[in-house]
Formats: sequence, structure tokens, C-alpha cells
Amino acid sequence: MLILVNISHSSQFKVKIHDKAFDLPSKFNDLSEKLDTNKDGTLQNSELKAHVLGDKISLDSFEGQDRIQEYKCKLTGAPNPNAKDYHSFEQMEKVLDQAVLDHPDIAKKVSLGKSAEGRDIWALKVTGDVHTDTSHKSGIVVTGCHHAREWMTVEAPLQLIHDITDNPDSPENQRRLAESELWIVPVANPDGYEFSRNENSWWRKNRRPLGVDQSGEKTSAIGVDLNRNYWDGKDEHLFVYRPAGDTPGNTRDDFSATSDNPRRDTYRGPFGGSEPEVKALLDFELSHSNIKGVLDYHSYGDVILYPYGHTRKESPNTELYREIGTKMQEATSGFRLEQSVGLYPASGTSDDTHDLNGILNFTIEMGRSFQPNPKTIPVTSGRVSKASQAFIDEIIARDDAGELPKHSAEVA
Ligand code: ARG
Ligand code: ZN
Repeated sequence: MLILVNISHSSQFKVKIHDKAFDLPSKFNDLSEKLDTNKDGTLQNSELKAHVLGDKISLDSFEGQDRIQEYKCKLTGAPNPNAKDYHSFEQMEKVLDQAVLDHPDIAKKVSLGKSAEGRDIWALKVTGDVHTDTSHKSGIVVTGCHHAREWMTVEAPLQLIHDITDNPDSPENQRRLAESELWIVPVANPDGYEFSRNENSWWRKNRRPLGVDQSGEKTSAIGVDLNRNYWDGKDEHLFVYRPAGDTPGNTRDDFSATSDNPRRDTYRGPFGGSEPEVKALLDFELSHSNIKGVLDYHSYGDVILYPYGHTRKESPNTELYREIGTKMQEATSGFRLEQSVGLYPASGTSDDTHDLNGILNFTIEMGRSFQPNPKTIPVTSGRVSKASQAFIDEIIARDDAGELPKHSAEVA
């Protein structure tokens, strides 16, 4: 009797992921105690439902199932079994290689630089006569996976590649290939992506060991939030990386959803553009004056965001954003369209720096969870591809009509 009591008290709470049991770290004991209503030591989906999904999302929906599975992975650090049905970094590389083999005249694989662990930041350049100088065309960059755990944002660029290169003779694609120069980057954060697939599905940042914090103190912390690290190196734009009143090394005055603590998920890094992944992308975009548009894929929320993100103030390009965004929204049948700051204010995000350099851009938050059931990949990536095609068409037309802002590298 006494023994039994002892055993039940030393019990560790568990969750099951695909029928495999995983222990919850003891720091979640209080929470688990509350949630485990049938007192069997395992948190069932039905016991997690109210806590994770609230009362609006059904447990039977993909969204409900996916969010609960993600939450269990988050609590336990277990890998999300959905990983096997998403492209790994290597498989993504093979898709790009195959596109080049199948369509050598319109697709070329280009490395924009290396990640902290030495992986390539691959871009697939897609345009007619891809091996010639095509810099007279409207350049558009599409980036996926700044954030490691946002797996659908790797699939959506691959879908866009397929939608354009597999059907190059449609009238729409002929025009896109003739008049635009696409740079499609499925994985902006390759190290983080692989870490999230294999080690800790909830990982968001890159994987650079920081060495020191912003005060020069030694730290074992790893990683910077790449979508808090954007700065173009121009003093007059420093405020979008670090708004006034937010001092380095001090977390008490941190600007919304952006942190100076290297252990936080939203750590902005030691200085703007400190991260090799961000630097590779920005150097490329800012040195090519034909780059007129950027789409940055994130998840989740089914929303299309336009600058600014660090302030409620409107960008001078707001009318263009509303017009183009409406076209993109129509193409997705159902995404919302709003100013970035409406989601939450943040600094150092890709959107504001691009806008300030005369590059129109949207952040697309796709889907209803980070690592959704792979069955939803075709529908979600298909909708995002449609929205992206609408963006490409708008940039082409408006560049022709001289309606776009001037890229900062254009000589006056
Ligand atoms: N989920 C994205 C992030 O946190 C959204 C950023 C959009 N920009 C913004 N300022 N809210 O990086
Ligand atoms: Zn994101």
C-alpha cells in the first residue's frame, strides 16, 4: 500500500505523440496537475483542448489536431512526426537541382551566401534566358523559412517554382518569364530549419553560438531571430532596428516583440545585420537595383501584411500596398490584408527595411499552425503561390507603368 502511494507521487506526466509516450519536464507539473482531469498521468487531447485551443477551434479539425500536436512537441522537446513529409534541406536542394535539369533555360541555382553552420542560402533564379544578364527585368525575391519552425513556408516557394517552371508556355508564365527575374529562396534559415526538423520542433532562430551578449559578457545562448535582425547599415534607418528609447543590453526597455536578451526567441542580435543569413539576403537585394519586390513567407494566420511593422504610421506606399494586396487577397480566397503593426509591433523585421529602400514587400502568414498535417500542404502552398503570382503580375505591370518607388541603389 505504502509503496503504491509512493509510486503514484513520483509520477511524471506524459503525453502521447503518434502512440509514443514522452515525459513532460517537471517544470510543467503544476500545469499538468490541473489539466490531467482523469488523473492517469497522461495528458489526453481532450484534456489539452481548452488550454491550447480555447473554445473556437474544434479538436476534430486539422487545425485543432495540428496545434495540439505542436504543443505536445513544444512541452516535451519531442520531434514533430510530420517532419518526414516536409522537404528536408537536402531534399529541397534536390528539387532545385531537378528544376534546373528539367528547365535549363529558365532556372538556375545560385548561392546567395552561407549560414552560420556553412549551409548555402540557395536561390533559384527563374526567368527567360536565365544565363544572360536579365537585370533590365523587374526583380522579385521570395523568401521562405526565416523562422525555423515555420515548415509550410518551405513548401510554398517550392510550389511557386513548380507552378511557373512546369508550365512555362502558358500566356501568364510567358509574360512572367519575359518581364520578371524571380529569385526564389525556399530556406533563408537552413541551420534553424534542420534543427527544428531533427532536434527541437519549436526552434525559431538561427543556430549561431553567440559567444557574448550585448554587454560583452560570455553567454552560451544560441541564435538570433532573423526577422528582428534587419538593418541596412544606414544611420538614418537605425530606428527600424532599434527604436528610440530601447538601449542595447537592457531588456527592461525592449520594444514590443523584440528582445535584447540572447535567450529569448525574439533576440534581435548584437547589431543590425549581424547574422550571415540576413546579411546575404540584404546585400543581394540592396545591391541589385532592379529588385522591386519581396515576398517574405511566414506562418501562421492566413494574413497578408504590409509595412510598417514598427509603427502605426503609414508607409508612403500604402495606397500601392492596399491595391496590390487586394489583388493578392482575391487570389487566396480568404486571407486577411492588414498593416504589419496590426498583428503586433516589432522592430528589425524584413518588411520595414525593404520598404525604406524602395522595395515593395509583403509578409505572408500562411496556414493555421506551424507544422500542419502534410495533407494540407497542397492547398495552403497552392493558395500562397496564387497570391505570389498575383504579386509578380502587379509588380511587372506597375514597373512598366513607372508606378513603383525608386530602389535605393538607383543612381539619381
Ligand atoms: N510573424 C512575423 C514575425 O514575428 C511577423 C512579422 C511581421 N512584422 C511585424 N512588424 N509585425 O517575425
Ligand atoms: Zn515567422
